Amino acid sequence: MSVAMSQRARKVTTHVLNEMKMKGEKISMLTSYDYSLARIVDAAGVDVILVGDSASNVMAGWETTLPITLDQMIYHGASVVRGVNRALVVVDMPFGAYQGNSKEALTSAIRIMKETAADAVKLEGGREVLESVTRIISAGIPVMGHLGLTPQSIHKFGTYTVRAKEKDEAEKLIEDAHMLEDAGCFSIVLEKIPAILAKRVAEELTIPLIGIGAGKHVDGQVLVLHDMLGINQEFSPRFLRRYHNLFAEISGAVKNYVQDIKSLDFPNEKEQY
Ligand code: KIV
Repeated sequence: MSVAMSQRARKVTTHVLNEMKMKGEKISMLTSYDYSLARIVDAAGVDVILVGDSASNVMAGWETTLPITLDQMIYHGASVVRGVNRALVVVDMPFGAYQGNSKEALTSAIRIMKETAADAVKLEGGREVLESVTRIISAGIPVMGHLGLTPQSIHKFGTYTVRAKEKDEAEKLIEDAHMLEDAGCFSIVLEKIPAILAKRVAEELTIPLIGIGAGKHVDGQVLVLHDMLGINQEFSPRFLRRYHNLFAEISGAVKNYVQDIKSLDFPNEKEQY
């Protein structure tokens, strides 16, 4: 088998994710927004890379995910895809690219697939976006759902606190999850909901459920890369485990660089032509 063929054989597909759920093997998912970090994340063995619209916050510095555009998501998506060999790459559909009507949603999804070469798209919401989900899937595009805290609706919720703590909202979320599964979604992200509710959804559905702040009884976990690496220090929700303090590491390196220039240490004889 050629190197190219063996690399293709190891590629994570939606089918592989289903098998992982059936075997009880947990799925790892992280965000990436650029080629260089996506290469590292993929080579480290993450199963799914999400080109999240959280790029709006962590890459562009906006308060919410609402301002990022379809063109910008396509730029991030294509950059990530060029750095990935193995992971399944999912690109978030940004706010405004699918809520209007299902024809527009399909047009946006097709642009993402054609212009990024990603494997799937993700969009937020349940019954409200079901027509769009169905139409996109009918075109052969795999869709990941996203329920619970859906940041594109922040102005409706008013806060980023835990969702579906009350019975009515929890029941609606369970119904929405079933609707998304029935419509053909290959997976659903559950964000910031009680662990007991996420457990119930993961048990009732056959597709993999990926949690962020949804406890350990789901089929996989996702975090925002810049949060878990400690590049962002301001954001510290209970569910976030920090694996590094890159803010301090990078800041230390930059301070040393500045110091070396000021002290005439850099460049030295060996570092010039
Ligand atoms: O945009 C994003 O990063 C996400 C994750 C938080 C799931 O949707």
